[in-house]
Amino acid sequence: MQLNGNTILITGGGSGIGRALAEALQEFDNTVVIAGRNQRRLDETTAANPGMHSVSLDVTDPEDIVRFAAELPKSYPELNVLINNAGIMRAEDVTNHNLDDAEETVTTNLLGPIRLTAALLPHLRGRERAAVMNVTSGLAYVPMAATPTYNATKAAMHSYSLSLREQLRDSNVDVIELIPPYVQTTLMGDAQAQDERAMPLDDYIRDTMTILRERPDVDEVVIDRVAPLRRAEANGNFTELFGMLAAMGKERG
Ligand SMILES: NC(=O)c1ccc[n+]([C@@H]2O[C@H](COP(=O)([O-])OP(=O)(O)OC[C@H]3O[C@@H](n4cnc5c(N)ncnc54)[C@H](OP(=O)(O)O)[C@@H]3O)[C@@H](O)[C@H]2O)c1
Repeated sequence: MQLNGNTILITGGGSGIGRALAEALQEFDNTVVIAGRNQRRLDETTAANPGMHSVSLDVTDPEDIVRFAAELPKSYPELNVLINNAGIMRAEDVTNHNLDDAEETVTTNLLGPIRLTAALLPHLRGRERAAVMNVTSGLAYVPMAATPTYNATKAAMHSYSLSLREQLRDSNVDVIELIPPYVQTTLMGDAQAQDERAMPLDDYIRDTMTILRERPDVDEVVIDRVAPLRRAEANGNFTELFGMLAAMGKERG
């Protein structure tokens, strides 16, 4: 993916990784449009970043996605990059038979990007060069037992990205997977933003942008901090890391 001169849609761009990525990409001379449900956060982000745009979108709502995908290219005909970043992460107790969290997680983290990609792909295919960037997680590769459905959606998005990339191999659309480690955001609540075990957000974005800048053909953005999880199976220490994450999940509650 060429790093400048794009018009980029970032879902969940009003906070955390999405916001920081939006700001970094704007610095690289891209037009950036952030999307999410929380209008106040979107407004704060665009106010702090003149030239940035925002649009309202709930990725759990199939009708909203269809409406959105029909309208957005009218306002931003140059749109050529979709970043599927919006996501939720909930701890789940599998002995509690309430599946609300599990279902919401699948709808947001898995069906959301699949639906949005499908809806915007016809437009992206019409651009000279385009990209779909899917934000997964190190937990796609070594699950944390405390968040079963979350891990499963991220593993599924890894798999989906592989097939999407293969089907679009000879097309104008690059498919890139961004694989964050544990990062200081409020994904699982305010305490995460202060957790010293999590990577500072600025450091994560710096390392990610370095890879995107230096390797325009990269398929998977694997920064050093997440490499042990991404490569655990190949390195032969999956079981050890799985155990460590299970213990960490219990601690984090
Ligand atoms: N932080 C980490 O440790 C970490 C590690 C690996 C992967 N990730 C991934 O990174 C991505 C960003 O997470 P984050 O850490 O930056 O957390 P975050 O600050 O909570 O960001 C999540 C974003 O998703 C948006 N969102 C959630 N549900 C949505 C919906 N139904 N429709 C539209 N937008 C929705 C939220 O915006 P609204 O509330 O405004 O809708 C929010 O801006 C997620 O996919 C997450 O799984 C994070």
